[in-house]
Amino acid sequence: MKSTKAQVIEFCLPDLPDAGVRAEAFAPSNIALCKYWGKRDAELNLPVNGSLSISLGSLGTRTEITESDTGTDQVFLNGKAVVQDNPFARKVVAFISLFRRELDQPVCIKTENNIPTAAGLASSASGFAALMLALNDFYHLGLSHDRLSAFARMGSGSASRSIYQGFVEWHKGNRADGMDSFAEPINITWPGFRVGLLKVATGAKKIDSRSGMQRTVDTAALYEQWPKQAEQDLQTIKRALADQDFELLGQTAEHNALSMHATMIASWPPLLYWQPESVAAMQRVWELRSLGVPLYLTMDAGPNLKLLYLAEYEAQVRDAFPELLDIDIVVPFG
Ligand code: DP6
Repeated sequence: MKSTKAQVIEFCLPDLPDAGVRAEAFAPSNIALCKYWGKRDAELNLPVNGSLSISLGSLGTRTEITESDTGTDQVFLNGKAVVQDNPFARKVVAFISLFRRELDQPVCIKTENNIPTAAGLASSASGFAALMLALNDFYHLGLSHDRLSAFARMGSGSASRSIYQGFVEWHKGNRADGMDSFAEPINITWPGFRVGLLKVATGAKKIDSRSGMQRTVDTAALYEQWPKQAEQDLQTIKRALADQDFELLGQTAEHNALSMHATMIASWPPLLYWQPESVAAMQRVWELRSLGVPLYLTMDAGPNLKLLYLAEYEAQVRDAFPELLDIDIVVPFG
């Protein structure tokens, strides 16, 4: 039987303690090497397949929760007050309300994203992970990492992976209440591994991941193949990580991303997240690769590329892509 978020949380946390005075937390953004695309339960964000990502070090979201002195909930995003009926504020307040008592005092939430706006990265993963970590502190929940990840997942699926740094696997789980669908870190250090962000097009994406996934699952005949391929890719990427086999990792991650996009394109109405500039950039990646540089790409539900390469090829990659934004992933491997 399907459960609501509130039912799952009430079952896991029957006695909510009192609110604290102030809490603050940071969570990194992440990029999936094996993608999450499709839900077996849309209310709880339970995925059809397992996925694996790399977290982006100090790039992410910092969130502070304090008592509100105005008698109502207040939400600030990057220093600016957000009106209560704004969809962002509504999502944040609805998530917080899952953890507070009926009569609890209103709160003030301040969220800052330090992801450069030029990076074209979504902030829902780091946003819900940071919010969950801050809530754990503010309401003295004392949650285990598994539960923090499972609850962050209820805000946004990919947030389950942003609870950790480094390489992270999100187990799809089988339970109806989703409490076995959480992420765990993979204990691997790879100091030479690099991720670069290639912003090729601007403008808000037209279809968010939630509706894009739903449309693909509902209308794309090709989606039938996706869970099988994703599970295979997940195992191959784990093997490649264990062996530090960069070529195998890059090939599998790129193939996984492009297979996801092929499935999206096969939806109706078609879901094409690419712009002409995205295709041109893909061709430049393939050209450089044909010259012997092990460079691979991955893409999410948007037009921008993320490049995967090794530190020893940094100069060649930067020569070919002077506009590349590198990201600080040194910390998790330090
Ligand atoms: C393509 O986690 O943003 O980036 O669970 O509906 O909030 P919701 O979706 P979201 O989807 C991310 C999709 C992806 C692939 C991935 O990060 O695994």
